[in-house]
Amino acid sequence: MDVGAGTGRFAKLLSMTNRVVALDSSEAMLRVARAKGPFECVEGDGHRLPFRTDAFDLAMVVMVLQHLGDYGAALRDIARVAHRVVVATSDMATRRLGILEEAFPSLLAIDRKRFPPIPAIVDALRAAGFRDPLVEERAYVRRLATGDQLDRVRHRYLSTFDLLPLGEFERGLRFLEDEMPRRYGDRFEITARFTFVGATR
Ligand SMILES: C[S@@+](CC[C@H](N)C(=O)[O-])C[C@H]1O[C@@H](n2cnc3c(N)ncnc32)[C@H](O)[C@@H]1O
Repeated sequence: MDVGAGTGRFAKLLSMTNRVVALDSSEAMLRVARAKGPFECVEGDGHRLPFRTDAFDLAMVVMVLQHLGDYGAALRDIARVAHRVVVATSDMATRRLGILEEAFPSLLAIDRKRFPPIPAIVDALRAAGFRDPLVEERAYVRRLATGDQLDRVRHRYLSTFDLLPLGEFERGLRFLEDEMPRRYGDRFEITARFTFVGATR
C-alpha cells in the first residue's frame, strides 16, 4: 500500500513487481495516478484507512507525514493494516536548499516546523507497535535543465511555497529567473537526501 501516493510515481515503480494499492485523499492526484495504472487507486484519509486488519505486507509513506494532522494516529492505523512500513522523508535537521534558501528566506524555517523530526518518527513507529525502527539516509543528485527547474518552481513543486509570507514567492521566483541562468548556465543540479525509516511489527 502506498499511503499518500500522490501522482503514483512510486506505486507505478512498485507495481512492476508487486500488487499495489495507492491511497490518497486528493481525487485530483489520484486521477493522474490512475492514468499510470495498472495498480488500484483508492480515495481515503491516511488517518482512517479503508482496509481490513492485516490487509498488506508493506506500507510505504513517501513525503506525507508533514501533511497529516496527527501522524502518530496515521502510523497506528498503518500498523493495523500492514506488517511492515517504510517512511521516506526529509531530515530537517540537515536539509539544505541551496539557491532556494536565498530566493525564499522563510522556506526552511516553515519546513522545520512542518516536518516531524526523525527521532519523533522513530518514537511514533514504536508507539504504533512496530519493532526496532531502522534509519537510513540516501543521498541523490538530480540533474535538470535550468529552464525545467524554473518551471517546477513556477508550478509550485514544493507545497511549502503556498505557505510563504505574502509576496515572497513572487519575489523569489523573479530572483531565480535572473540568477539561475547567470550562475548555472542551462544545467542545474539538485543534491539532496532522503531519510528512510523502516520497521516491522
Ligand atoms: C508531497 S505529496 C507525496 C506524494 C507521493 N508519495 C510522492 O512522493 O510522489 C503528499 C501527498 O499526501 C497526500 N495527503 C495529504 N493528506 C493526506 C491524508 N490525510 N490522507 C491521505 N493522503 C494525504 C496529498 O494529497 C499528496 O498527494
